[in-house]
Amino acid sequence: MEFQNLLITNKGRVQQITINRESKLNALNKDTLAELHSAFTEAFQNPEVGGIIITGAGPKAFVAGADISEFAALNIEGGAQLSRTGHTEVFDLIANGSKPVIAAVNGFALGGGLELAMACHIRIASDNAKMGLPEVTLGLIPGYGGTQRLTQLVGKGKAMEMILTADMITAGDALQYGLVTHVVNPEELLTKAEEILNKILSRAPLALAAAIRSINAAYTDGINGYETEITEFGKCFGTNDFKEGVAAFMEKRKAEFKGE
Ligand code: COA
Repeated sequence: MEFQNLLITNKGRVQQITINRESKLNALNKDTLAELHSAFTEAFQNPEVGGIIITGAGPKAFVAGADISEFAALNIEGGAQLSRTGHTEVFDLIANGSKPVIAAVNGFALGGGLELAMACHIRIASDNAKMGLPEVTLGLIPGYGGTQRLTQLVGKGKAMEMILTADMITAGDALQYGLVTHVVNPEELLTKAEEILNKILSRAPLALAAAIRSINAAYTDGINGYETEITEFGKCFGTNDFKEGVAAFMEKRKAEFKGE
């Protein structure tokens, strides 16, 4: 698949998606969001892709937000539609994806950029990264899941302060808040992301998908996450990966999972 605003590279079973609008600090315009929908749909379906790292082109930004230049023409219905489409086509698609997605936050992650990182399953950052949800400076609120996912990740008090002040936080603050799990030098960021993802990809693929679904259930209204866990746990016993995992343990060898 050919993209105008994304670069896709594959290393083994790790796919890297790089948002490639460096002159606009990788801001998410409609075309880029549509390309992200296509790229993630393809990556989740492609059996040769085990997991995905998403990052931004250049040394300055992961994503500096939704493309503000596209906001001016919108009315109430248009704004709601933009938000709803973004949720379903990109942000929920990633969050509910069956394969692990790591955000490698390499600079500014603002507004829709931080929301994109928060839709990923794991976030790591370079020590020059700056994160924030500055939408209230534009007369808006976060519209791609930010009010919900930031609250889930850092708690209500810190989410309120970050969203209401619109202040950016440093990578160090983000680590302390639990918003990211590692902070490294910019040169080490992708290596660290690959290291984490390759470790995850040595585990049983169907169990990874079941774990993602069960953890997400903790934050899904109307769903009892404990029931989801019970069902998903049971389903694991019907997989060949489970048989292989137990056999490998008993035979004191490394398991070779096939994702079936
Ligand atoms: N939407 C559209 N364009 C954006 C953008 C966004 N969210 N963020 C940056 N850009 C563009 C700038 O307009 C500029 O384009 P130009 O060179 O054609 O004028 C280019 O990217 C470089 O940005 P610039 O502002 O010159 O860089 P800076 O280093 O001075 O400032 C930021 C960096 C991130 C502080 C600043 O770009 C900014 O505040 N961006 C908007 C952040 C935001 O509010 N995001 C939430 C949107 S909901």
